[in-house]
Amino acid sequence: MSNISIIGTGNMARTIGARAIAGGNTVEVLGRDQSKAADLAQALGGGTMTGEWGTAPAGDIVIVALLHDGVVPVVTQYADALAGKVIVDISNPFNSTFDGLAHREETSIAQEVAKAAPASASVVKAFNTVFRHVLEKGRPDVFIAGDSAQAKASVGVFVESLGLRPLDVGSLKMAHWLEGAGVVTVGLANHGVGNLDFALSITELPARANG
Ligand SMILES: NC(=O)c1ccc[n+]([C@@H]2O[C@H](COP(=O)([O-])OP(=O)(O)OC[C@H]3O[C@@H](n4cnc5c(N)ncnc54)[C@H](OP(=O)(O)O)[C@@H]3O)[C@@H](O)[C@H]2O)c1
Repeated sequence: MSNISIIGTGNMARTIGARAIAGGNTVEVLGRDQSKAADLAQALGGGTMTGEWGTAPAGDIVIVALLHDGVVPVVTQYADALAGKVIVDISNPFNSTFDGLAHREETSIAQEVAKAAPASASVVKAFNTVFRHVLEKGRPDVFIAGDSAQAKASVGVFVESLGLRPLDVGSLKMAHWLEGAGVVTVGLANHGVGNLDFALSITELPARANG
């Protein structure tokens, strides 16, 4: 079981929160609008708590479920309240035409979060390649990136508690390419697949016999 705090009260907060409760985790929701946080906590049930915006979250894992342009400012606002936490960035910083990233440099929201967060916090990118309704109903692979093996392990345990497979793609630098994978997902939805009812996943060949 993991102790999770979710910053944000929108669609992804609701979906991750519901799966987290179903997976036996402890959940806290935090919203800049306290009434939205209270409503979401009530809707999620399972003992979901609410906390005070800007103060230390109760969870060891803090999922920042905000629109991409709010993520770094909010982590900056929380500052030392996030000391020692595993911060999970799920954002997709799409450009205005959804065929590229909003930032031009080879960075990512997750890497920028790591610069803004306390040194004792660890940042993990996860969940961004999965559409909300697929996360709600399906069993998509969840790609994760981060510099701390311990933080990735604890996020991996949480992902497994949701009945999903965590797949480590490497260091936090890889968050840039996970954000790119988010763009690819939208491209597939608009072109080759033609709908939103899918997720990127990994297919492995059967293990090769010796010799
Ligand atoms: N939806 C998907 O299928 C999906 C899939 C993968 C990843 N994501 C990523 O998940 C994140 C959340 O998406 P969502 O679909 O849950 O969005 P959403 O339903 O629009 O919810 C956004 C949340 O962010 C809060 N927020 C926005 N700007 C803020 C700021 N500056 N300060 C504080 N709170 C702020 C909103 O609070 P208020 O209600 O108070 O405005 C709301 O709680 C996004 O970064 C998105 O790219 C989404």
